[in-house]
Amino acid sequence: MLERHLQVIESSIKSAIEKDGIEKLSSRLFDRLFDYYPETKSLFDISSIPVLAPRKFQLLLDLIVDTLKHPGYAESAVADEAIRHSIYDLKHKEYYFILMETVPLCLKHSLKEVWTAETEECWNDTVSGLKGLFHKAILEHEL
Ligand code: HEM
Repeated sequence: MLERHLQVIESSIKSAIEKDGIEKLSSRLFDRLFDYYPETKSLFDISSIPVLAPRKFQLLLDLIVDTLKHPGYAESAVADEAIRHSIYDLKHKEYYFILMETVPLCLKHSLKEVWTAETEECWNDTVSGLKGLFHKAILEHEL
């Protein structure tokens, strides 16, 4: 199962980046975070968002693909991220959830003509799996 998810997800990432480039793809990443959770604005130097957004988007893509490639390490990889971010006092799992959900939304916006039901299903499975791991990490590490 994961092989097919990895195939579908990697090809959707590749097509969207080839079509729109990561700058344009990532432009909505922080808009959505700040729309839903305006309090998170204080964590960032807002003037650096145009530079930070493509970087953060790539970091999220890397985490998503790595956890599909190495499912045995997914839990520790996610826990490491949650622990890394505890220095910013990030306690709300929803902050991670919104970023995770926004990645496929940005890709779907780019690939709308060719976005299939299978692509949707693979992204939904993968994002809900990662949300579960972030929730578990925040609970287990009492972050
Ligand atoms: C969801 C998965 C996330 C991943 C994989 C991730 C990854 C990273 C990484 C690798 C860094 C280190 C600096 C860098 O390499 O740029 C970083 C920094 C940072 N992250 Fe995250 N992050 C995630 C979610 C979040 C969330 C939800 C927030 C806040 C709402 C957040 C806020 C920050 C801040 C404030 C920094 C340091 C400042 C900065 O680089 O500007 N991150 N993140």
